[in-house]
Amino acid sequence: MNNKTKKTVAVIGLGYVGLPLALLASKKGYKVYGIDISEEKINLINKKESPFVDDKVSKTLKKSTMEASTDFTLCREADILVICVPTPVYDNHMPNLEPVEGACRGIAPFIKRGQLVILESTVNPGVSEDVVLPILEKESGLKAGEDFYLAHCPERINPGDKKWDVENISRVVGSLEKNGLRIAVAFYKSLITGEVKPMGSLKEAEAVKVVENSFRDINIAFVNELAMSFSKLGIDVVSVIKGSSSKPFAFMPHYPGCGVGGHCIPVDPYYLIEYAKVKDFDHDFLSLARRINNHMPKFTVDQAVRGLNEKKIPVKGTKVALLGLAYKAEIDDCRESPAFKIKKLLEGYGAKVETFDPFVPEESSARSFDEALKGSKAAVIATGHKLFREMKPSLLLKHKVEVLIDGRNCLPKEDFIKSGLIYKGIGR
Ligand SMILES: NC(=O)c1ccc[n+]([C@@H]2O[C@H](COP(=O)([O-])OP(=O)(O)OC[C@H]3O[C@@H](n4cnc5c(N)ncnc54)[C@H](O)[C@@H]3O)[C@@H](O)[C@H]2O)c1
Repeated sequence: MNNKTKKTVAVIGLGYVGLPLALLASKKGYKVYGIDISEEKINLINKKESPFVDDKVSKTLKKSTMEASTDFTLCREADILVICVPTPVYDNHMPNLEPVEGACRGIAPFIKRGQLVILESTVNPGVSEDVVLPILEKESGLKAGEDFYLAHCPERINPGDKKWDVENISRVVGSLEKNGLRIAVAFYKSLITGEVKPMGSLKEAEAVKVVENSFRDINIAFVNELAMSFSKLGIDVVSVIKGSSSKPFAFMPHYPGCGVGGHCIPVDPYYLIEYAKVKDFDHDFLSLARRINNHMPKFTVDQAVRGLNEKKIPVKGTKVALLGLAYKAEIDDCRESPAFKIKKLLEGYGAKVETFDPFVPEESSARSFDEALKGSKAAVIATGHKLFREMKPSLLLKHKVEVLIDGRNCLPKEDFIKSGLIYKGIGR
């Protein structure tokens, strides 16, 4: 597509995935409508304020001509509709496709001939054809693959990543038929500098994303298991992983931690697990990885209890500073964050938990780092924010904190041990 043929794009769902994409399309010359069901989000975006912490998004939004609205009728004007709504799981880990179904019902009445609908949300193989397509066809009265096109291009964005963003991360695209594939590939090629790889089908493209995130979940589960084992064997797992990384081929380092959070890694494997179950296949390996990673908040809290025991301090009634609520460093996203499980478990033991996260002040009980540490006997790092990574033993000593649980293995342990503190990492 060249500038003369630049078209109108509607992005449905303006979160961590949809907003950067909408801003990129606008930057590349498309007329862009951003559509969301959250009035609050739309108001913020129209005031040029990012609804989440992201420097790049904040800067681009200021200059963007993109229009944001809750009005789905705008979809009528679009040539390309991109669905970027959440795909969470219910408490029992079953996939929750309500947002995808809702978005499809929202756009379906406005679908017209020649339009391309792209699903970017992460889903298990089969959702585009078995869930999205029937809703779009039924409500529009049009036929997918003949009257309008259907494609899937799973988003790979990594919020907070300074190097890889929506513009340079490569993509895979699958479609119902070859015309839709051609248009969808051309669309992404017009947006990004990374490779755009056509896949053989919608299902293949859907599978690519769940495989990527399951790969990560499994590898993290492996090192988490090593961390729990090595803590009993008296071996520093981080040193070992660094040692293994010196092999120039066939080893990819992953690091243990107090739990896997975010909207993707601890969620997406369940989409595959549950879908395969319906087709009479049990993903034992993936299920075990999920169980191991879900156990890490408990392991972390056990470390804190042990540390306090060593100092003969009862957990019950003791103030514990929980440092970090976001699921990873330098962002404000708390979805599936292990910090909340750690908090609940500590409170279950009777600890008085004070939380502090500079990126999530609205969820923090303390207003400052110092306030969180004041009167605490133990501190548990749940997020490796720079503020916590740069912490010196003297700060803990000043506040008479005696036990430090480094849930992200982000501090130089020797310095803390030397200063007389009990330091326990995750496997180190
Ligand atoms: N967050 C990530 O790092 C990331 C990375 C890659 C892929 N993904 C995938 O991308 C998808 C979106 O994730 P996200 O993190 O951007 O979610 P998000 O919660 O940040 O944003 C989703 C937006 O969709 C809106 N929405 C919900 N239902 C809607 C509907 N029926 N119609 C219109 N808007 C609706 C919400 O109000 C919200 O603003 C998910 O499938 C996720 O797995 C996320």
